[in-house]
Amino acid sequence: MSNSQPTSLQRRLLAWYGRHKRNLPWRESGDPYAIWVSEIMLQQTRAQVVAGRYPLFLQKFPTIRALAVADEQSVLALWSGLGYYNRARNLLKAAQKIVDDWDGQLPCQASELRKLPGIGAYTSAAIASIAHGEPVAVVDGNVERVIARLHGLAIDKSATVHRKVALLANQLIDPKHPGDFNQAMMELGATVCLPRKPLCGQCPLVDACATRGEHISPPRAPMQTKTITCALALRTRKSQTEVLLTQRPAQETVMPGLWELPPLKRLAFADKFLALSVRHAIMQTNYIVRVRAVKPAETRTFLKADGICRWVTAAEAETMALTGLARKVLKKARVFGAK
Ligand code: ADE
Repeated sequence: MSNSQPTSLQRRLLAWYGRHKRNLPWRESGDPYAIWVSEIMLQQTRAQVVAGRYPLFLQKFPTIRALAVADEQSVLALWSGLGYYNRARNLLKAAQKIVDDWDGQLPCQASELRKLPGIGAYTSAAIASIAHGEPVAVVDGNVERVIARLHGLAIDKSATVHRKVALLANQLIDPKHPGDFNQAMMELGATVCLPRKPLCGQCPLVDACATRGEHISPPRAPMQTKTITCALALRTRKSQTEVLLTQRPAQETVMPGLWELPPLKRLAFADKFLALSVRHAIMQTNYIVRVRAVKPAETRTFLKADGICRWVTAAEAETMALTGLARKVLKKARVFGAK
């Protein structure tokens, strides 16, 4: 570790972080496993959404060993609604490898962590710096924007710019407090150095910034809009509501193995059959989802013949590995209790 004094930028950033950091559940733990889970969830999901889901995941799988013996469907069930389900599959595979090859101990160094499924440069740096104090910079999209603005670099998606930014980030990092420094940079990008309306008046680094609000991120690709349809088929058995669900085939590239409401044979149907409609955004697409009420006796007429369909009680459905969209529809239809 270096004996040198922190730079003014490091001091200002860490002081700002101490005062303004959001109260997020993973910040209360020093357990490398809990930090790993949070960083995987945070890869593609907003912190506020993760904050709502992370405690339950850790409650169900409190240790690497508890996760390693879980079956994939129960891990996916706790990931339901977070999207990018390969993250959950890789988390499970990595936990099994850690138990088999490393006696249940998550490696400490970023270079070793990177050998595990689902852990790349950014996640390995986050875990190693936060859990073990390794002075290696995290460069996610937020940090890239902060550094590019500080130094007046144009942001593009090229590997050259990414390498330049990573080099600069590793020069800026406070070697005595790398975990907090990294989290402070991510926090600054997420809450102050915003892509379109940066709040320079609240920024602790404004004096050192080459651009001060003049640097606006390139516009995002416009969202596409698509209409899709699915069926809401309900019945009552032994005084319990049951819903018809289908499992996506294992060979699907998107959300394989997850359960959803059955798709309809034909896209169009008259408004009088509409049970409800919801909007659902996935990546670059805004889906308008029209849900048709289908009676149990009509399922052959309206549903696609392929795929496994199963009637499940509402209580069981709530614990299954549902797609985020299916969960949203079943909540809105009040098949699930309002939460
Ligand atoms: N994004 C990814 N990891 C994060 C963290 N530890 N804190 C805040 N935002 C993050």
